[in-house]
Amino acid sequence: MDTIDWGHLPFGYQKTDYNVRCYYRNGKWGELEVSSSEFVNVHIAATGLHYGQEAFEGMKAFCGKDGKIRVFRWKENARRFRSSAAGIRMAEVPDTIFKNAIWKAIKLNRKHLPPYGSGASLYIRPLLFGVGAEVGVKPAKEYLFLVFVTPVGPYFKEGIKPVEMMICRECDRAAPLGTGHIKVGGNYAASLSAIEQAHSNGYANVVFLDAKEKKYIDECGPANFFAIKGSTYVTPDSPSILPSITNKSLIQLAEDMGIKSERRPISVEELSSFEEVGACGTAAVISPIAKIVDSETGNVYLFCKDGKPGPISMKLYHKLIAIQTGDEPDPYGWVDIVD
Ligand SMILES: Cc1ncc(COP(=O)(O)O)c(C=O)c1O
Repeated sequence: MDTIDWGHLPFGYQKTDYNVRCYYRNGKWGELEVSSSEFVNVHIAATGLHYGQEAFEGMKAFCGKDGKIRVFRWKENARRFRSSAAGIRMAEVPDTIFKNAIWKAIKLNRKHLPPYGSGASLYIRPLLFGVGAEVGVKPAKEYLFLVFVTPVGPYFKEGIKPVEMMICRECDRAAPLGTGHIKVGGNYAASLSAIEQAHSNGYANVVFLDAKEKKYIDECGPANFFAIKGSTYVTPDSPSILPSITNKSLIQLAEDMGIKSERRPISVEELSSFEEVGACGTAAVISPIAKIVDSETGNVYLFCKDGKPGPISMKLYHKLIAIQTGDEPDPYGWVDIVD
């Protein structure tokens, strides 16, 4: 591990030493188990394999200048994880088990934590799925909760570069009363063809519209959409988008900077009135968007006129990272230290 070029790690899976597991059987959660295997032995009729009983989370731990390990807003992830489990009728993981498993996974893999200043972090992936065997469509009686960690590089290795996206009109990521608001695997499976199409057309990702009217912006691939309009931060209000913890944090930071925030439906046409546009989420914090193309209408929406990310997006980006790494005070108690 000593020779790792932390600043150039990809955002991808890299083997670490241990993962932490916990089984739900006979109506209760068992003890945490530590494993050094990258594999799970799963029943061929497990509901996680057949009926999509699977949910996950994505979060990060950072090494600070003081050498302390900081985890960002884990309670929010724990809450969303419970809501994802409830949404597809899986056993919910109690917050103490969620936290203990994460803390254990981080500590056991301490040597894989990227150092302060590298821009890299330790990505944490909690996962829950049905392992009980069923053939009829019904919830499993047994579940596996698992946490693995993997070091990931900074999303933008050569500085923040605004990206181009295309509006997707051929398929939907999630239905209005479906599972778009929870973090379950099926949503990601449903988004893959659109994302692949965007990539093959040279775009970084896809902007999904609301499935009912195809009129409003929902999400940007696996991230929330936001825009700056005058002195207001606007972000979509929709029943089919994932409530992003990054977005929620940026809204708070924007308000602290005197920028109002609005959560409301955002029509595609409104894109022409925005000064700054971006995607936000755990992976990149903010990914500024330079261009959005709507191939059906032929409209091209341009932002970042000089090729640079907008000033408000950048201010928010730097502020959030400074809180996550401990460079700046954490006024809202978003960060917990792993001791
Ligand atoms: C579909 C989707 N939307 C939004 C987000 C951003 O959420 P968060 O900021 O909690 O990472 C993610 C990533 O987790 C996502 O997968």
